[in-house]
Amino acid sequence: MRVRASLHRDFKISHIDNRLYSAFIEHMGRAIYSGIYEPGHPQADLNGFRKDVAELVRDLNIPAIRYPGGNFVSAYRWEDGIGPKEQRPVRLDLAWRSKETNQVGINEFAQWAEMTDIEMMLAVNLGSRGLEDARNFAEYVIHPGGTYWSDLRRSHGVEEPYNVKMWCLGNEMDGPWQIGHKKAKEYGRLANETAKALKALDGDIEAIVCGSSNDQMPTYPDWEREVLEECYENVDYISLHKYFGNSSADTLNYCAKIEETGRYIQAIGGVIDFVKAKKRAKNDIYICFDEWNVWYHRREEDARRWHTWDWPEAPDLLEEDYNFEDALFVAGLMNEFIRRSDRVRIACIAQLVNVIAPIRAEKGGAAWRQTIYYPYQFASLYGRGTALQVAVDGPTYDCKVADDVNYLDAAAVHDEQAGVVTLFLVNRHLEEAVDLDMLLTGFSTARLIEHKVMAGFDLRDTNGADRPNAVAPYDGTGVGVENGRVRGSLAALSYHVLRLD
Ligand code: AHR
Repeated sequence: MRVRASLHRDFKISHIDNRLYSAFIEHMGRAIYSGIYEPGHPQADLNGFRKDVAELVRDLNIPAIRYPGGNFVSAYRWEDGIGPKEQRPVRLDLAWRSKETNQVGINEFAQWAEMTDIEMMLAVNLGSRGLEDARNFAEYVIHPGGTYWSDLRRSHGVEEPYNVKMWCLGNEMDGPWQIGHKKAKEYGRLANETAKALKALDGDIEAIVCGSSNDQMPTYPDWEREVLEECYENVDYISLHKYFGNSSADTLNYCAKIEETGRYIQAIGGVIDFVKAKKRAKNDIYICFDEWNVWYHRREEDARRWHTWDWPEAPDLLEEDYNFEDALFVAGLMNEFIRRSDRVRIACIAQLVNVIAPIRAEKGGAAWRQTIYYPYQFASLYGRGTALQVAVDGPTYDCKVADDVNYLDAAAVHDEQAGVVTLFLVNRHLEEAVDLDMLLTGFSTARLIEHKVMAGFDLRDTNGADRPNAVAPYDGTGVGVENGRVRGSLAALSYHVLRLD
């Protein structure tokens, strides 16, 4: 299958915000407890954090992490997680029908974020609580001292305030499952007033308002319009969430859900522009895609389990085993975020450890990288700089969710400082290799310095504690860069990262 492609040094999409490669972690299942935190584990540090897991996290170079939820946050009392650990109450987590011991709270999580060198992005509870608690939480976290809440933090041994600029105004408030679910107008007003209060504490705060829980919600996209009509001037981002799967075992259709995601982003971009025009507003709002991932392998089975179980503590929940097909999908999705980086400034893989996560950690045992770890890692490491347009001229296919889908999925990032261009390519054809001829205008002297590939695995292959490296990238061959052209063969169902300087 011959594919011609072309990119030009000056045809730029946008400067990429590094926070495009952020993550999300929630108090749910074994994400926190026996995920990142497991006192007594042979790899635990003095604070109880697992060093093996932290190392896998650090290798991802994650800029920011959203915490503590998720659905969990909508009935969470943040004060339960501060002060002496032995005095912290055990509560029922209404979102996941579990017991929350509160042994990790904001100060412990901040320690972990420091250990892994990640900026915190905090969500406030606008479900069972509201503006007053959000304001108190923020004061505890970011105010230097001399007030009730900031001095309480200091009395807990944290002298300096945390530098938290990103605040999420609740979670999925359109979802009927959400504790304290609201109508759009009602939520929009609350979000507006909460954003004002947080910004009164610190004018540099960036507020993230909840969009729809996904693009299939009956209230989508009116929800976004109605919410933004209430709060446009006081918020900075609107959140999008979307989870993916291939229940129908149709690989091409699965891969095309990336185009569906592009339509979702485009539609919300349109809603933002509409409300901006209607309000004659000056400020811009961007997209914070703060929950995305593959979630379908165990989804139904897990839903049956957690709806009936008897309030366990840190149960096995949503521990999806990702396969090679999921890695190809995530590679394409990262490409879409790069291509849409003019609108999407922040995006968070949901989640980070154990719960629908690129990293798995056995209780008392080993930690390993799942297949999807790699495309997320490559994008995070090499997808920084300026996104360039890539024109692809090659065969396409039609499927249930989209028509005219290119078999070759391509994105390019120019890191001007390092003088490196990285091409991220996915050949989604089930049987045929791509015979690529890509013209690089403005990069006539470019040389290939690195080629990583994921190919040749069975689509259902996974990694596990007993086979941690079964699906992993390796050095690629068969692609060359000469006289401003990339030429070579990309095997059927393969992912390539080509770095040129
Ligand atoms: O990430 C798992 C859950 O998915 C989150 O708690 C919620 O926000 C979403 O529905």
